[in-house]
Amino acid sequence: MRLPLVTLTSLLAVIMHAQTPSCPDRVETLLARLTLEEKIGQLTQGVIHAPEHVEAALAEVRAGRYGSFILSAPPEIATTLRNQVQQAAVGQSRLGIPLVFGYDSIHGYRTTFPIPLGLAATWDIQLVEQGQAVAARESRAVGVDWIFAPMCDLARDPRWGRVAESFGEDPYLGAQLVAASVRGFQGDNPASPERAAATLKHFVGYSATTGGRDYNTTDITPFVLRNAHLPAFEAGIQAGALSVMSAFNAIDGIPAVTNRALLTGVLRDEWKFNGLVVSDWNSVAESITWGYAADRAEAARLSLLAGNDMDMMSGCYRETLAAQVAAGTVPLAAIDEAVRRVLRLKFKLGLFEAPLTDPAAAARSFALPDAPPLAREAAARSLVLLKNDGVLPLTPAAIRRIALIGPLADDATEMLGTWPGHGQPADVVTLAAGLRTHLGPAAQLTVLRGCDLLPSGPRTRALPDGSNVTDEDANHRAAVADENDFTQAIAAARSADVIIAAMGEPRGWSGENSSRAELSLTGRQPELLRALAATGKPLVVVVFSGRPLALTETAEKANALVQAWHPGLQGGPALAAVLCGDLAPTGRLPISFPRATGQVPVYYNHAMTGRPDMVDYRDLTRDPLYPFGFGLTYTTFTYGPVEILAATSRARATVTNTGTRAGEAVAQLYVRDVACSEGARPVQELRGWQRLTLAPGESRTVEFALTDETLGFVDRSGKHRLEAGEYRVWIAPHASTGTAAVYQRP
Ligand code: NOJ
Repeated sequence: MRLPLVTLTSLLAVIMHAQTPSCPDRVETLLARLTLEEKIGQLTQGVIHAPEHVEAALAEVRAGRYGSFILSAPPEIATTLRNQVQQAAVGQSRLGIPLVFGYDSIHGYRTTFPIPLGLAATWDIQLVEQGQAVAARESRAVGVDWIFAPMCDLARDPRWGRVAESFGEDPYLGAQLVAASVRGFQGDNPASPERAAATLKHFVGYSATTGGRDYNTTDITPFVLRNAHLPAFEAGIQAGALSVMSAFNAIDGIPAVTNRALLTGVLRDEWKFNGLVVSDWNSVAESITWGYAADRAEAARLSLLAGNDMDMMSGCYRETLAAQVAAGTVPLAAIDEAVRRVLRLKFKLGLFEAPLTDPAAAARSFALPDAPPLAREAAARSLVLLKNDGVLPLTPAAIRRIALIGPLADDATEMLGTWPGHGQPADVVTLAAGLRTHLGPAAQLTVLRGCDLLPSGPRTRALPDGSNVTDEDANHRAAVADENDFTQAIAAARSADVIIAAMGEPRGWSGENSSRAELSLTGRQPELLRALAATGKPLVVVVFSGRPLALTETAEKANALVQAWHPGLQGGPALAAVLCGDLAPTGRLPISFPRATGQVPVYYNHAMTGRPDMVDYRDLTRDPLYPFGFGLTYTTFTYGPVEILAATSRARATVTNTGTRAGEAVAQLYVRDVACSEGARPVQELRGWQRLTLAPGESRTVEFALTDETLGFVDRSGKHRLEAGEYRVWIAPHASTGTAAVYQRP
């Protein structure tokens, strides 16, 4: 292995640091030698996306004016660019302090896994941990030391595009998967070349954005903040997350980045977090736009003093903090404390010992054979069977001619989902490719798009004077071509044994800044769906989306309905195996699916009301189309009555496989605190689950401990509390069913 030359100064610096005994001592030694400008540099983060960014940054890096970069450059050049700028830091800056490089490996780096909402549908803690470990390994191999994930935001409004990046609507499920992600990213030793630092984001309340519109205002009560939005963060801190990202939103009028009650009060004082807090992109400056800080100096001062250590991209810290320290308005001690946190992160990541990245590591890491099967397993386990009248699994006898129709049948790029790291469309196995391989040459598979995901805009042509006019001819040709596609697809469907419709929404319509006002299949897909259903052929609909769509009509028309999210590189083989019955579906919804957009937010764990049976619409029920926790499989289960073992504070129930195939049940423990002195608790809350694989006819008893954590809540002051009195407890296959037993807590 050949690494670029590191200068003598940097080697000496590395050796000196290495000889210093403990991390705190090394931090203090370095801190004492830094100038104020260098300290502020440590608190400043830039971005490296292309070679010109390195050119622009080098002089400043040598002067110690950066502490970190976002490394968003493609992997082919990322390591080289990183090493160039890192060499300037360790070899040519006064103290040789390495930079730390961050990136959004949200559901993988090169191996793209299902979107986080899909990962959550696995309800599989170990699988999520393993997947995130692959993401860390591939990220670190390129030189990404610090991953801006997991997102801990509770997703209750599917109009919000970042629902795709979330683990869904449940604080308990979310907390478990956040902790698993932290373990997966960081392992036991984040300094290992296969691990990276995790970031809990966005602290806090970002998802409560009004109307589901990204970046909008929020309105969160303290009790809801404590019990719905904070638990996943607390779990991540307990799992050892090394960093937190403050959010874009304001809480009660105070931008999160300047919110001392949260960044210092909750994070540091209550939870004893001693890691690094980084702002979101430009959010320090946006505290001015929020109408809170008066100018860039105040924005920097309020953010730093609130407990936000590093400034991502706004430049407010580097422009204004030195003068404010000189003027006495910002205490040097506050800067020092933030710098300590940055240096600690760098020590914990082993960057002083190994600042550079082996340029050959990425190729080695990307070729490791365990990643694709893991991505396939995650994709398969993320699939949720929402309806099945018996058409699934497809039997070889029943299907010789399949019409696979829809804009997402064979679109590799769309499968990657929002924020897919550097997953490559060429590595994606689409549903069409997966089915072709699975079925072999004997089956006749016709694949047609039928329509586009989105209508193409009107075609224009340029006039000699530079202006544009509508190109009527081109529009006419396009309309005829569209009509032909549609007609051909319906003709193919008519002559098939079974239709598989691959539909949904574009990946770009979920994720950041991608809110939707209508949770429908996009473009002409509803029309295509109706025409396919009108053929009378068995219709299996596979929905690819970054959020719950309102699938009422789709479900009516379909004989079977599978929610496939955006499944990543291996969605095709996973779907083929499940549709053809080689694997049974095991996914369960991590979020409720609405009947109509007007019903949202429609999350299951809402607070109790005074007239619970009347909280309805004139024109629609309050019940979702598919509830939280729901998912069918190729067998059926019954759940026996819940028995409370008061002496040992346990609850148990017997689950029986009543079908003819083996299958996996996900037994879910729900609780309700009937009267709470702090205020109305949710009508029900998930507080545990167990997966059981049962043979046909087999029964097994699941048992859950009713611990303080199972029944307790967090009061407004942040104390975890548990009260005596009546609790309802039940064990059920999803949130909309089950009969509760009463547990009297003495
Ligand atoms: C903005 C996003 O909100 C955040 O999640 C992300 O980590 C940063 N940009 C950096 O890409």
